Amino acid sequence: MSETVDLSEDLEFTCVPSLWQRKHLLGLEELTAAEIRLILDVAAQIKSATAGCRDRVSALNGRTVANLFFENSTRTKTSFTLAAKRLGGDVVDFSSNTSSLSKGETIIDTAKTLEAMNMDAVIVRHRTPGTPHLLAQNLECSVINAGDGPHEHPTQGLLDILTILEHRGTVEDLTVALVGDISHSRTARSNIFGLKKLGARVIVCGPATLVSRRWEKFGVEVAHNLDEIVPRCDVLNLLRIQFERQQTRPFPSVREYAHLYAMNRRRMAIAKDNVLIMAPGPINRGVEISADVADGEHSVILEQVTNGLAVRMAVLWLCCGPREIG
Ligand code: CP
Repeated sequence: MSETVDLSEDLEFTCVPSLWQRKHLLGLEELTAAEIRLILDVAAQIKSATAGCRDRVSALNGRTVANLFFENSTRTKTSFTLAAKRLGGDVVDFSSNTSSLSKGETIIDTAKTLEAMNMDAVIVRHRTPGTPHLLAQNLECSVINAGDGPHEHPTQGLLDILTILEHRGTVEDLTVALVGDISHSRTARSNIFGLKKLGARVIVCGPATLVSRRWEKFGVEVAHNLDEIVPRCDVLNLLRIQFERQQTRPFPSVREYAHLYAMNRRRMAIAKDNVLIMAPGPINRGVEISADVADGEHSVILEQVTNGLAVRMAVLWLCCGPREIG
């Protein structure tokens, strides 16, 4: 095992700052702009303090985190696991297929059973919106939302914003388009809440069957023609079509969708010179993004993945780290 190092020596603070009073991270809708900035600031400091270093630090020594993933995940589960381990914590992986849930146990009883083994945090992904909130009401430990159906995916929103900040220094007054399956996207909602609180202009763009006028209530512009908005955008975040959450297909064919909404070489030609191309992943090459754009010089897709680790380390540390007494 790697030697443990003291992260606090490289950070400006040694305990969770008093501005952060939360035990859970359930969504960005409930956070203030100051709280969002704090998480991003801590993530940036952690990233800088741990750059090129795979050693464990001691921030979560003695703490145990449980991954409760009821939906598939590559990025989120792996980076939460790495985040907890790099902070010196232990990680327990819960498998819904082989657990006692399959014998009729409720999710609350399952989570309480894990908590009885002294978990300090559960990271939960579930297809039902509100599942993390239900657990937070029933558990003493921290609950972190790793995606609840189409509702929120707060760490994805945060890592997307951190990536924009690294390139632009601010999100204030930037125009950020979220393109694709907005209706079923927890990433879209978390991005909207976070970006709007930090002063960005947000456009949601896609077929009318996936982007209704109701999104205007969140203070965003609704668009259905990608070619019209591309020239105005500083950032294009291309969301996956979530066929698994749809009862009926919302457009005639994937080919037609790609023709109208994929970011490709032709559309890059009308984009700003310094446009950022983002995608939360998993990406479907040739559907929401062409392979040359996904791998092109404007793409920051893999930087988003890297920043996911820093954001999740920050969130775990803020929610479960040592607090000032008194
Ligand atoms: N972006 C995202 O949540 O990816 P995973 O489903 O792989 O975790």
